[in-house]
Amino acid sequence: MKKKVIVFERMEEPVLSALQEEFDVRIFTEDEMNDDPVSLSFLRGAEGIIGLGFPGNSDILDKAPNLKIISNISVGYSNLDLEALTKRKIMATNTPDVLTDTVADMAMGLIISTARRMPELDQYVKQGQWKEAVRTELFGMDIHHKTLGIIGMGRIGQAIAKRAHFGFNMDILYHSRTPKPEAESQFYADYMNLENLLKESDFVCMITPLTEETRGMIGKKEFQLMKPSAIFINISRGSTVVEKDLIEALKEKEIAAAGLDVYVEEPINPDNELLKMNHVVTLPHIGSATYETEIKMAELAAKNLRAGLNGEKPGNLVNQEVWEKDK
Ligand code: DGY
Repeated sequence: MKKKVIVFERMEEPVLSALQEEFDVRIFTEDEMNDDPVSLSFLRGAEGIIGLGFPGNSDILDKAPNLKIISNISVGYSNLDLEALTKRKIMATNTPDVLTDTVADMAMGLIISTARRMPELDQYVKQGQWKEAVRTELFGMDIHHKTLGIIGMGRIGQAIAKRAHFGFNMDILYHSRTPKPEAESQFYADYMNLENLLKESDFVCMITPLTEETRGMIGKKEFQLMKPSAIFINISRGSTVVEKDLIEALKEKEIAAAGLDVYVEEPINPDNELLKMNHVVTLPHIGSATYETEIKMAELAAKNLRAGLNGEKPGNLVNQEVWEKDK
């Protein structure tokens, strides 16, 4: 009998068809997981879940007694309660590396479009206006030769530093759990404590994973340390920032503008004040969303899933303890 696998939210072709040949696959959305008796009965028998943002918490795991692996199609895994998974000996995997350059490209896009006010100017042209009438308040801010402070100097942070340093002649400051000598030698990045990084940067880019240490890491006090001309970029997870303090900092002009791909609540509530601010560029969490990269991530996640279901160690196992305990 084929093993039961849940595809959560979405899965790219041709990866989906390949999984359907090997496994008994059902595609479910978050709402269906909560109330639908058919999906709950399938969940009881499911050995694998693959997808984007599956809420892997104790409540739902209690309804999945046969589950062996949750294969995330993302590098971040703050949707998963790792302690609860590990306790139940369920493997968790992610998709690092394949998305690094794509997310770094998007970060540069967000920096440029926020600093140069591209979404506002796009609307300007589409409403029939032209350059001669551009008011000074719509002028942008230079990016080249400015200082970029990166919070979280992992693979994606370093790919952003490379683009900013070599492409835009930017000075790079960074703050992360451990110093990264490779970033210091390659991009002349300077390691700083958070306070100094915030004080000295023209652009502050958050790309740290969401953990108990980084939750709410940037709030009122941190925004007050930034330059009034600073542009704040968040491509990590919404909850690394105290969103109400960000809104306040923008209203009070403690910072100049923000470019955001992530929010505390996703999808963002249409009443969120951030959506009403011209100096905030908002994207719908699309850091890795190019056709090529989505396919690579789906393929890697499918590889992790297959390994886990075949009793092999998946290449991108996040909770290593599950494997070590079993061996
Ligand atoms: C991820 O994969 O975790 C990133 O948020 C992509 O946008």
